[in-house]
Amino acid sequence: MSEFSVRNFYDELARDYHLIFRDWDASMAHQAGVLGELLGRGLGAGPQRILDCSCGIGTQAIGLASAGHRVVGSDLSPAAAARAAAEAVARGGRLPAAAADMRRLPFADEVFDAIVCADNSLPHLLSGEDLRAALLGMRRVLREDGLLLLTVRDYDEARRTRPTATPPQVSETSAGKVITFQLWHWHEDGERYDLEHFQLVPEENTPDAPDARDTWDTRVRRTTYWALTRSQLTAFVAEAGFADITWHHPESSGFYQPVLTARRGGPDSGSVATGRSVRP
Ligand SMILES: C[S@@+](CC[C@H](N)C(=O)[O-])C[C@H]1O[C@@H](n2cnc3c(N)ncnc32)[C@H](O)[C@@H]1O
Repeated sequence: MSEFSVRNFYDELARDYHLIFRDWDASMAHQAGVLGELLGRGLGAGPQRILDCSCGIGTQAIGLASAGHRVVGSDLSPAAAARAAAEAVARGGRLPAAAADMRRLPFADEVFDAIVCADNSLPHLLSGEDLRAALLGMRRVLREDGLLLLTVRDYDEARRTRPTATPPQVSETSAGKVITFQLWHWHEDGERYDLEHFQLVPEENTPDAPDARDTWDTRVRRTTYWALTRSQLTAFVAEAGFADITWHHPESSGFYQPVLTARRGGPDSGSVATGRSVRP
């Protein structure tokens, strides 16, 4: 899969992305509360200068900005980043957001207190080379002692059970219920999988088509993920020069995915993982 196809996937999904959530605004508020708590624990009360380098339509970035942090959003998908900025304004806030690849972050060195990369964005990178480029770039734009915060699917579990589908999620719209689910097709390496993302959207009734609601519009988009285990991701994060790597599990954090926090070491922290606090 190419970078172009990931961008296409999210450009096409940007308009419908909120339909993945039962109530997107409630999710934004909840996620900002949980992630804000972890940021506060690591950095103090703030406000903090935060880069959300895979902001999508703003699920984490808008809530963190509403909580008073100075948040900048970037994302591979120009359509998602543009929607994030617009959704912030629609809620009376402000979120500068632009298209950028997390492997080539267009920001000056050491300008952020925290980097957020949430909801399984990093596993879109399919090689060690790409992961290293992204993590080294995040480290570069973080100030010394700044905090990295990643959230990913529980792939330790998925690598054991190799699911082939996700349960349907249902959200309400003015036209009726929208149903979202995924089919997973595992590669032979047992680590990567192609994903088919299905959304079933009811047609709107119109004067010309009064029974349209009997018909579903099926939207299918495809992309590929690398199902990184926690120990694989921990090793990449340590190799990129981060310290105090800690996993926060859903039972203790209240977040729906495992969250990794790590601290940017000082100028001498090189690329060797030895001697760091690594707690997968
Ligand atoms: C599952 S979505 C999560 C978006 C957002 N954090 C949220 O929770 O709504 C994954 C995001 O990662 C972004 N992404 C994937 N590869 C990227 C890359 N190389 N650089 C920047 N963003 C990337 C996608 O465009 C998409 O918006």
